[in-house]
Amino acid sequence: MQRRELIDWLICPDPGPLLAAADRRRRELHGDAVELRAIVELSSHCRCDCLYCGLRRSRRGFRRFRLGPEQALATVREAARGAGTVVLQAGEDLRLDEARVSALCAGVRAAGDSALTLSLGERPRASWARWRAAGADRYLLKLETASPRLYARLRPGHALADRLGALETLRELGYQVGTGNLVGLPGQGAEELADDLLLLQRLDPEMIAIGPFLPHPSTPLAGAPAPRLLDLTLRCLALARLLLPRAHLPATTALGALLRGGRELGLAAGANVLMEDVTPLAFRRRYELYPGRALVEEPLALRRPRLDARLRELGRRLASGRGDALPRALHPPASGGPA
Ligand code: 5AD
Ligand code: SF4
Repeated sequence: MQRRELIDWLICPDPGPLLAAADRRRRELHGDAVELRAIVELSSHCRCDCLYCGLRRSRRGFRRFRLGPEQALATVREAARGAGTVVLQAGEDLRLDEARVSALCAGVRAAGDSALTLSLGERPRASWARWRAAGADRYLLKLETASPRLYARLRPGHALADRLGALETLRELGYQVGTGNLVGLPGQGAEELADDLLLLQRLDPEMIAIGPFLPHPSTPLAGAPAPRLLDLTLRCLALARLLLPRAHLPATTALGALLRGGRELGLAAGANVLMEDVTPLAFRRRYELYPGRALVEEPLALRRPRLDARLRELGRRLASGRGDALPRALHPPASGGPA
């Protein structure tokens, strides 16, 4: 698809045919099984100051946390028992140091057959290499926006080019790479979103997280969510599915925070992955990237049957296994739009 066609799909009155085409494409390649990823939030400390984020460095007056090694390990074990992929996530917290993360990687390996995704921000290449050697399979590092101008404004002190370089490094080290963008950022219209999608297509990542931007009241971007936010997010998801058929696409937690049932709408628009948070509740409350997250307390092993039953009502089911990337050679990025 050309840029013009992407923009047309983002603004046309009826997205029905687009969403239906994405749903078909998802079924052809990924089937009806939904991959489950269990997220463990290790630390809410962050050295970055992203204007959109509730964990930004300049935000004062709230208590941050860092899970202790034992607590982290216990949580990681619960995650590995309940899902085929464990995701270790944190702000860019350098006190969550190389050795500590390596030990957790080893902990995931020892806990069973789950795949391991890390999402710990930009770190030195040597750390990434060591974690890879310790058993990490995947790394998630979002672009947030493909506009160099918007990127520099929203992530002070950072440049889009460095982010792209970091993704390249992760690839070189043999990680399955995840990236993605936010939808509804101030200053972002259909043209910018089309550019996000084209950049994603060029990068051809194994996973793409596309989520709505939900303004946090204690950040400089406090205020109302963008108009048409749900609609635009679903259109971006669907277009990503058509452009990058083999990619794993989560129906993001933020989509569920925007609207009850939002994740289910994502699953009907091309998504094939769900993320469930297993961070101990007392800490999870304080991992506040954006407002409105559902806070389910049940252990993941108990949540699974309920999730599976809900998915079956939608003609879907929970997958078993690690949910690795589909091979790139068999499924190159596509050029056509909805047939
Ligand atoms: N709304 C939605 N997503 C957000 N993130 C950060 N702040 C927000 C927000 N206000 C997402 C970013 C980042 C991830 C850690 O959380 O995309 O990559
Ligand atoms: Fe830190 Fe990530 Fe939030 Fe930016 S988006 S402030 S890097 S936690």
